[in-house]
Amino acid sequence: MRLKGKVAVVTGGSRGIGRAIALALAEEGADVAVNYQRNEAMAREVAQAIERTGRASDIYQADVSDPEQVQRMRDAVLKRFERVEILVNNAGINRDKSFAKMDDDTWRSVISVNLNGVFYCTKVFLDGMAARGYGRIINISSIVGQMGNFGQANYAAAKAGLLGFTKSLARELAGKGITVNAIAPGFIATDMVSGVPDDVKQKILAQIPLRRFGEPEEVAKAVVFLGSEDASYITGQVLNVNGGMYV
Ligand SMILES: NC(=O)c1ccc[n+]([C@@H]2O[C@H](COP(=O)([O-])OP(=O)(O)OC[C@H]3O[C@@H](n4cnc5c(N)ncnc54)[C@H](OP(=O)(O)O)[C@@H]3O)[C@@H](O)[C@H]2O)c1
Repeated sequence: MRLKGKVAVVTGGSRGIGRAIALALAEEGADVAVNYQRNEAMAREVAQAIERTGRASDIYQADVSDPEQVQRMRDAVLKRFERVEILVNNAGINRDKSFAKMDDDTWRSVISVNLNGVFYCTKVFLDGMAARGYGRIINISSIVGQMGNFGQANYAAAKAGLLGFTKSLARELAGKGITVNAIAPGFIATDMVSGVPDDVKQKILAQIPLRRFGEPEEVAKAVVFLGSEDASYITGQVLNVNGGMYV
């Protein structure tokens, strides 16, 4: 129960890594606001699973790339939970295309959700954290932001941008009792990876020393750690959860 009494917001909590994060935070005692964009039924299932553990949870529809929707989400979350101590910026999309074929819309949509979305969500929850002198912000970046990847110039730019954002904010907010860290997952078995063709999957696996894709729960454990008092002296860091693929 390392997070007993804390309130967390997880963006993109309806599926995949975000779902595992929401459940893991609740297992450690946090109440969890679950954000989603489209999959209401899946978000509701996550909130219900959390409630069964005895913690409070609710679902909040918002496109994180839309500042007005994010503002409305914040108002609704604060109305229900009054405060937020832990913000996990997890919502993300990929729209892969070789650079030659990458049009303006493909570029912008990925930057909007994966990078601008983190800016908007952090903006709206920061004031309360600063006022109370406590906060944990955890940004889900990617190994692709560190290594680059064929067909992912948009995604890699957004995820690398998150690392610079994390480090800058860590310096700005340390004096207010707020830590800001990033997690860089490698290839994790979720919907985002399930569409990758089998031959490409085999090539990726050959590059992973642990010889398997990660599980969402393995990323969630790192989030719990960074969100807890165990990580009280850690800020501005990037925690790699990648099976050794990038060292
Ligand atoms: N899977 C990997 O291998 C991997 C590796 C490194 C980093 N990551 C990062 O980890 C995060 C989670 O990835 P995942 O694999 O769990 O993805 P996923 O299974 O595709 O789930 C994406 C989640 O983000 C939500 N979402 C998408 N666009 C949104 C928007 N505009 N506003 C609010 N929510 C939005 C989705 O909500 P709906 O269900 O409502 O659509 C869903 O909950 C992403 O940031 C991703 O880039 C993933």
